[in-house]
Amino acid sequence: MPLKTMKDLLVQQLDELLAGERHITQVMPKLARAANSNRLRDAIESYQRQSKEHVGRLDPIFREMDLKPRKAEARGMKGLLEDCLRLAALDNAEAHVRDAAIIAVAQHVKHDVIAGYGCAKTWASLLGMHDAADELQRSLADERNADAELTRIAEDLNLAAVEAAV
Ligand SMILES: [Fe+2]
Repeated sequence: MPLKTMKDLLVQQLDELLAGERHITQVMPKLARAANSNRLRDAIESYQRQSKEHVGRLDPIFREMDLKPRKAEARGMKGLLEDCLRLAALDNAEAHVRDAAIIAVAQHVKHDVIAGYGCAKTWASLLGMHDAADELQRSLADERNADAELTRIAEDLNLAAVEAAV
């Protein structure tokens, strides 16, 4: 689709967010199963449920714009999720190290969607789509909270991993 207007840009971002959230719902269960820490596993499982809610918030925005989502390729997200699958298959890595790597890749995923929701929310607001901007803000807040939670988990687990190795 040619990008001419801010609305075109918003639609492209929404398509990418929707594709990314749908991929996340498929990949997170595999990542959760690969986690050693129960706390990390619970957190990742909650992000999988949250992604489904976020898909549910995006659908009405397309309806409000009288558009159907297009099949977008969220290329950056695709690479990140391939990293997730590689990690999930790493049976030989030491458990704490694998958890540290899982947290890192999950945070990369979160930062990608934080950027996407942040841009989409700003553009929707500028275009006068205030209900859509509010919904995008809610998902943005969820993603930021998830990122902060992963940082807290990393602080505890990474310390435990380093102490175990000494
Ligand atoms: Fe999400």
